[in-house]
Amino acid sequence: MSSPPSELHNRVTLRCGTDPRWLPNALAHLDAVLVDHAHCEKKAAANALSLLQAYPEVPGLPAHMARLAREESGHLARVLQLLERRGLTLGRDPGDPYAQGLQDVVRTPAAQRQLDRFLVAAIIEARSCERLALLAGALPDPDLRRFYAELARSEDGHQKLFLRLAARVHGEATWPRLEQLLEAEAQLLRRLPVRAAIH
Ligand SMILES: [Fe+2]
Ligand SMILES: [Fe+2]
Repeated sequence: MSSPPSELHNRVTLRCGTDPRWLPNALAHLDAVLVDHAHCEKKAAANALSLLQAYPEVPGLPAHMARLAREESGHLARVLQLLERRGLTLGRDPGDPYAQGLQDVVRTPAAQRQLDRFLVAAIIEARSCERLALLAGALPDPDLRRFYAELARSEDGHQKLFLRLAARVHGEATWPRLEQLLEAEAQLLRRLPVRAAIH
């Protein structure tokens, strides 16, 4: 019998905290982190539209993804403004080995693929939220600190949105798969080098 999501199930609980070397490295190479952050927001907006394109039949999904794409585009515009003020240009996206590593564990059959896409999005949002909150707590500039605290709250809302979506469509199949993907994410982080990037 399926039980309603408990308190434990209304948010993603990551298996490991960020490597303590990440924050000092990010602060020392903040320009690179800001450029990478802009690319992350762009990919978050694009992923929302891609999910809308792939799953228009899921009740509520198109409206949620349209709003999400707008919100992530808003984040992108604000990070681009920061880049401009600092005399930085966006440049080409060199790719994100973290997001790529998670895409690699998405299964192929349609129903499984849909669940995995929702859960991978939830996990990426949860990790982004953790890292943006770390920046918010450590940046020297109070305006930047406020900006990152606001974005961390927003990404926290997004991880919950994706988790709700997964649970609503896939029911009890959601939770064991979430555990597997959280384990895969923790292993991926252990494999990847610490980078001057959001992930
Ligand atoms: Fe965002
Ligand atoms: Fe987000």
